[in-house]
Amino acid sequence: MELKGLILSGGTGTRLRPITYTSAKQLVPVANKPVLFYGIEALRDAGISEIGIGVGDTAPEIEEAVGDGSRWGVEVTYIPQEAPLGLAHAVLTAEEYLGDSSFVMYLGDNLLRDGIHDLVDNFVRNRPEALILLQEVPNPEAYGVAECEGDTVVRLVEKPKDPRSNLALVGIYMFTPEIFECARRIEPSARGELEITDAIQCLIDRGLRVESHVVKGWWKDTGKLEDMLEANRLILDAIETDIRGRVESSEVHGRVVVEEGARVSDCTIRGPVIIGRDTYVHDSYIGPYTSIDRDVEIGNSEVEHSIILAQSRVLDLHGRMEGSLVGRDVKIIRLDQKPRAYRFMVGDNSWIGII
Ligand code: G1P
Repeated sequence: MELKGLILSGGTGTRLRPITYTSAKQLVPVANKPVLFYGIEALRDAGISEIGIGVGDTAPEIEEAVGDGSRWGVEVTYIPQEAPLGLAHAVLTAEEYLGDSSFVMYLGDNLLRDGIHDLVDNFVRNRPEALILLQEVPNPEAYGVAECEGDTVVRLVEKPKDPRSNLALVGIYMFTPEIFECARRIEPSARGELEITDAIQCLIDRGLRVESHVVKGWWKDTGKLEDMLEANRLILDAIETDIRGRVESSEVHGRVVVEEGARVSDCTIRGPVIIGRDTYVHDSYIGPYTSIDRDVEIGNSEVEHSIILAQSRVLDLHGRMEGSLVGRDVKIIRLDQKPRAYRFMVGDNSWIGII
């Protein structure tokens, strides 16, 4: 059975503002690679070669980053979703593309350590109507929540106020075309969306087989800053040292990647750290779990547990920067100007903590 892939990459990313005013949340890099690319690779590694990507307002940017998929040896088709009316609505939008194929639906901001290869095998072998992935979380009210009796899923509720279990729905689902009928039958939820959670509940109500699998390795939905930083930490935990750029008069400890054209001088780098192409880091301390993208300059500063996007400059900070996500082309610099004062040019929904 050939499965198709459906990656949903619309969504406005309100919880990652201001970054998402100018960039799709699925393109924010984790360990210098857009989150979305991890999903494409997971589908490819599970043997899926036809992938539809559901896109919204950020379509041009997603299309530019992903192209036709040939870089991964897959064939990508873009499926415009005219409005963000929910995941089940996105499934209906993709009905023509998916046809009578079973498919894996992958939310473009989800990351799963162990990939989906074995799960896809399982789905193809057992042929349930849906295979859902679950994981115990401390805050189930932020997710779709499953109530199970043994291995059987008996009830699914989207973001319940009083969750009856701590099993959250991972944003990766496997379906047969039976899901279309259910996506058509359901009504919009309180937040005005056609919820995929309700469509799966409809499969259960119709007596169709919905199997679940509790994911053991880590899973992250990168929709919020803390989750993004955590995902960055988890991915960096698995990198291997690879120094292609120039490292001079510096101490490098632990696993560190220095990409081509990057220059590190008079620094202490304590990995895991990744320093992107053509980035210049000097007279600084870069601490664990830091991803610095391309064409960045960091000087006379200390940065730890942070993500810094392309073309930004961080110079002469007196305190250490940590737990931060710095967007593209941002300048955080010390001024000599008199009168001495803080000077900000900060976009809406920005967040600055000073010491
Ligand atoms: C969506 C689903 C939710 C699921 C989550 C996983 O939530 O509606 O059931 O648990 O993805 O990432 P959203 O991110 O749209 O709030």
